[in-house]
Amino acid sequence: MLWNDVLLYASKSNYKHTNTHDYRYMLCDFSLSQLVRATGFNVLSRQSNDVNSFIARQSPIALQGILNNIGANGSLVEGASSGIVVASPSTQDPNYFYTWTRDSALTIKFLIDSYIQGNQGLGSLIQEYILAQGRLQTVDNLSGTFASGQGLGEPKYYTNETAFEGEWGRPQRDGPALRAIALIAYSKAIVAASSDNNATVHDVIWPIVSNDLSYVAQYWNQTGFDLWEEVNGSSFFTTAVQYRALVEGANFAQSVGETCDGCDSQAPNTLCFLQNYWNGTSIVSNINLQGDYQRSGLDCNSILTSIHMYDPEGGCTDSTFQPCSSRALANHKAVVDSFRNVYTINSNLGPGEAAAVGRYTEDRYYEGNPWYLCTLAAAEQLYSAIHQWNATGSITVDNLNAGFFSDLGTNTTNGNYASNSPEFATLTTAVRDYADGFVAVVQEYTPENGSLAEQFSRENGTAVSARDLTWSYASFLTMEFARNSTLPQSWGEAAANTVPNSCQASSSNGTYIEPTATSFPNVAGIVTPNGSASGSGMAGSTSSAAANRATPFLRW
Ligand code: NOJ
Ligand code: NOJ
Repeated sequence: MLWNDVLLYASKSNYKHTNTHDYRYMLCDFSLSQLVRATGFNVLSRQSNDVNSFIARQSPIALQGILNNIGANGSLVEGASSGIVVASPSTQDPNYFYTWTRDSALTIKFLIDSYIQGNQGLGSLIQEYILAQGRLQTVDNLSGTFASGQGLGEPKYYTNETAFEGEWGRPQRDGPALRAIALIAYSKAIVAASSDNNATVHDVIWPIVSNDLSYVAQYWNQTGFDLWEEVNGSSFFTTAVQYRALVEGANFAQSVGETCDGCDSQAPNTLCFLQNYWNGTSIVSNINLQGDYQRSGLDCNSILTSIHMYDPEGGCTDSTFQPCSSRALANHKAVVDSFRNVYTINSNLGPGEAAAVGRYTEDRYYEGNPWYLCTLAAAEQLYSAIHQWNATGSITVDNLNAGFFSDLGTNTTNGNYASNSPEFATLTTAVRDYADGFVAVVQEYTPENGSLAEQFSRENGTAVSARDLTWSYASFLTMEFARNSTLPQSWGEAAANTVPNSCQASSSNGTYIEPTATSFPNVAGIVTPNGSASGSGMAGSTSSAAANRATPFLRW
């Protein structure tokens, strides 16, 4: 068989339905890109073309996949209340017919970013989500009461907004932080569009955000369960998003004429604490463990953290683990490498070849498989890093990240390379191709109809665990935004990345007040990147002030 035939066969989307072992046999134990290197065939542009068309096909499917899972009208989640984001329509093996605060906030954050980009039809759904969160906050549950704030740490609820009282890994303290970040993003966008929206933000959104900020400022230094709901201790992802929420919360409070004393007093200690997860070569995702967990610490938790801490106006800061920071790149390599030898579908890949990525190698949930959202996060971090290198005008190869780059075959010595240098072009091209490789892995293991479950089999790549996972779809779309340099708002990283000299274990007592708004007043038009303005699904809400603005990316 000619090598070109192999390549053509491999690039056909239907080959994924053939037995992977036959395919591998056909390749005589060589990986595709080893063959390509051997034959000099230019797979990179082919891969990029394939990835382009995959993304174009998959993107609307992913958006629809999200909308199908949101009440009250989502086609797959009958019975879910208005604005409730269901994790998956799956009701058994596993039963994910609940609403998780984390999954919901991350998903809605994408919808908000998309709304800002001009997808105005999402406005009413976003508002329904916000109102639903105001109601959910007050539901007392096994994590605690609303009055004490503890109840906000409950990870999941029934989709009719009642408490789930079964055994669970609770509390999970990332939820309130992620929700605050999402609500602040929406608030910033509508306020930037028109000052007519100031009162709405103050009266409807601030009360909800204020409760979440109180929670973060009061409880950030207490242990809880990680994002995977398994490990009781301190989780890198949780501490990081708590820090971001406190920084954004301080600015947000000020902008609505309120104060967040806890944001101001706790943020520096949170950033200080965040440094403790760095061990000099990689991120240890879970520390202060309250129990015996056998883990290396290498975990997709840390890659997710870099993408959710990404600030397009930030530099390659180590302290906040920006996507292009040396720490985050060294960690990216360490985490991806950890999966190379554990999954059958990753066998025969050389260093620097994109691989399927799971949560952590010791994972046994559904036998421990790669996750779509982790593999896509691996791509997203790199796309965002490329934006940061372009924006800052240079790229630095240093002792910490040299291994990451050398795996890509770039052969570049340590140094700082300006964006007009050949080295800059070589490095960023190699990183983009590597990032595209992770998308290509997802492409390879996405069923023909585009549905994304939670996991895909480590043995043969077929879908495993919850079907149509809302978060999987959201992770696809945030990857696409990053690949296109469709930027999220800044969260103020550049002014908030200095680590204090000494850390304190501290806390600030919060107040928790029932949000009372039951509807959104008319929201005046928001500006889309092409300069047009329109309302959030309500007639006649375009404001001329908004229409005059043409800045694509709304700033604070
Ligand atoms: C164990 C899994 O690892 C965890 O992520 C999941 O949320 C719980 N089981 C509940 O299904
Ligand atoms: C299990 C995952 O570990 C957790 O992160 C997620 O929130 C739930 N499934 C729901 O998707």
